[in-house]
Amino acid sequence: MPEELGPELRAVVDGVFHTSADAAEVTDIYARFYAVLGELVAAKRASPGDDLTSALIAAHEEESGTRLSEQELLDTLMLVISAGHETTVNLLDNAVHALLTHPDQLAHVRDGRATWDDVIEETLRAEAPVASLPLRYAVEDLPLGELGGPDGAVIRKGEAILASYAAAGRDPEQHGPDAARFDVTRAAKDHLAFGYGVHHCLGAPLGRLEARVALPALFERFPGLALAVPSDELRPVDSFISHGHRSLPVLTG
Ligand code: HEM
Repeated sequence: MPEELGPELRAVVDGVFHTSADAAEVTDIYARFYAVLGELVAAKRASPGDDLTSALIAAHEEESGTRLSEQELLDTLMLVISAGHETTVNLLDNAVHALLTHPDQLAHVRDGRATWDDVIEETLRAEAPVASLPLRYAVEDLPLGELGGPDGAVIRKGEAILASYAAAGRDPEQHGPDAARFDVTRAAKDHLAFGYGVHHCLGAPLGRLEARVALPALFERFPGLALAVPSDELRPVDSFISHGHRSLPVLTG
């Protein structure tokens, strides 16, 4: 990603997840997103590199095989860039926030009683970066009673479903009465933060790797890191999909 496109890409990805935007704002955000992707593709066509965009352009321009149309090229980039950016930003945000507001948990990591992978999985469980995902519809009647849910409740074929990955991570039936507690030493941290089934997140290993690099680097570089404002003054992002803070002001000690 050329460095100079970063701020605009950040702004348009934020816009995509801004779920209370009105129709005019959404139209504007998508126009800006396609414009900046056009610039990205033009830059990589002029000077291809060892990167995803260049690989997708090569697939688009192949003479044989399954070629991507120009629109599919842009839409694939839009999916991967937005799905890969906002989510990982929120994972880092939620992990840093959880550790700074639970110093006992940070001490477990510093004293070797827990690992950074424990922090990452516990953050994904307790503070899922993708809180819920719309645009799902039942393809058949789903009798929830038969699937272990409340008796008599049925999601009818064609009805919309909001899959709530954040709620699943805090289900007391799965994680016990302290399901809402951030506890890096918890034995079973299984979660649905990367979804489930055929659409399970394509970038899960990359998202985990980014956090595995960034979190220890941050806490080693700034051992005195602290929140610069009381936690209850932080504001959530304006989205029912993304779960994170609008900003996370810190003091570097
Ligand atoms: C902590 C980081 C991340 C989280 C929490 C996350 C979460 C998710 C979730 C919940 C889904 C939907 C799964 C479903 O439909 O059931 C998804 C799909 C997807 N993610 Fe991620 N993601 C992360 C990082 C990434 C990264 C780094 C990339 C790519 C660079 C990426 C690319 C995708 C793509 C392309 C899909 C669509 C897959 C499909 O529909 O087949 N994600 N992700």
